[in-house]
Amino acid sequence: MSNAKKLFIKTYGCQMNVYDSERMAEALGTSGYTQTDMAEDADMILLNTCHIREKAAEKIYSELGRMKALKEDKPDLKLGVAGCVAQAEGAEIIRRQPAVDLVVGPQSYHRLPELEARTRTGVRALDTDFPEEDKFEHLSARPKAKRGPTAFLTVQEGCDKFCAFCVVPYTRGTEVSRPVDRIFSEARDLVERGVREITLLGQNVNAYHGAGVDGDRTLAQLIRELAGIDGLERIRFTTSHPNDMSDDLIAAHGDCDKLMPYLHLPVQSGSNRILKAMNRKHTAESYLKLIDKIRAARPDILLSGDFIVGFPGETEADFADTLALIEAVNYGQAYSFKYSSRPGTPAAERAEVEEQVKSDRLARLQALLSRQQKQAQNDMIGRTVRVLFEKPGRLPDQMIGKSEYLHAVHTTGKDLRPGDLRQVKIVKSEANSLQGALIQKPQ
Ligand code: SAH
Ligand code: SF4
Ligand code: F3S
Repeated sequence: MSNAKKLFIKTYGCQMNVYDSERMAEALGTSGYTQTDMAEDADMILLNTCHIREKAAEKIYSELGRMKALKEDKPDLKLGVAGCVAQAEGAEIIRRQPAVDLVVGPQSYHRLPELEARTRTGVRALDTDFPEEDKFEHLSARPKAKRGPTAFLTVQEGCDKFCAFCVVPYTRGTEVSRPVDRIFSEARDLVERGVREITLLGQNVNAYHGAGVDGDRTLAQLIRELAGIDGLERIRFTTSHPNDMSDDLIAAHGDCDKLMPYLHLPVQSGSNRILKAMNRKHTAESYLKLIDKIRAARPDILLSGDFIVGFPGETEADFADTLALIEAVNYGQAYSFKYSSRPGTPAAERAEVEEQVKSDRLARLQALLSRQQKQAQNDMIGRTVRVLFEKPGRLPDQMIGKSEYLHAVHTTGKDLRPGDLRQVKIVKSEANSLQGALIQKPQ
């Protein structure tokens, strides 16, 4: 392309957005765009947005304000909004920010080249449909560029669970699983391009039930089949719902070597009253029983979770139940949030817990979770783990990678390269990472 145009994408929110941003870059590659990491150089800026909490969504409008200034110097610059804010507030974005040329929802990314062409004729384009055609089918004409050692692969999208606080069923639509053969060809392609670890993505990834040649596959079946790909060393998946944590998936954690011993299993609250109000359809007891089963299959698994504090109606006693559940599970890692009221969700109609109370509970919850995280890191000292190295660190000859348990591990070694999988002895725990020493025999 003689006149290569430059594309800058800024990604917010979950891993699915990271995956989608890669796909958008590929789709616009066919319109002559190459990616840049400098907004100032761009001919097109895309914000791939998240609507999960109010703060996340509001950030977009202030970012758009900043990007608008770039347009003043460069009138041909196109400004686009993609992702979940685009889906939820498309028309509002067009109204609130006249500098926006294009708004595209998560199910319409395959239409980007056409939408981009429309903006070149001076039209403002808005596409927040849930089209019949499969967006992934249309996004698969990818260039064969070399890649880093880890990749995301979306296998399922959308959610039918309708937790009372959550926008995802509205922004991503109903649950859809991609067919097995599409996932396989994408996985093989990634491995050919240097990927050694694939994280299977879905808002409810363990509800996966994609079509195979001889019937549907569960996530566990899919994982076992993907494990047969030579050169693919590690498989992970995220995010799971407790109610879809089937026995075959639990068993896979016990007997599938390539499936890593890490599980993100959000519970949100430890109070049955609040879980009911959240429409979670599980109890604290059923969750704890599930954790026991998972640990029986894979005793060393590192468990991670999501928590919401200050959901409407949450009392101090409810909150105490959440702390008790955290004590009982002992998480290696976790994410926690203050409840944020989202327009259009059932919980938005309910009276809110006072902000100060939310902040206070979040601080107490995070203190407990960070004690557990620290303990889990300390427990690694002296142990030998296998690290998949991803990138150079700040120090000379330093490389950073991930252990089986998803701990970031940094180590020094002259011959280390991204993509190397090596045995490392953990010698020290730091704030959010571990320090390791290479065991000198190459694996
Ligand atoms: N599909 C996943 C994650 C969805 S969003 C699941 O079911 O677990 C990621 C996390 O954001 C959720 O697990 C929840 O903890 C948090 N979250 C979602 N909506 C929220 C809201 N309205 N306020 C605060 N946190 C929220
Ligand atoms: Fe949201 Fe609940 Fe669906 Fe997770 S399961 S995406 S929290 S509605
Ligand atoms: Fe955010 Fe949408 Fe992901 S709301 S968390 S970007 S599914």
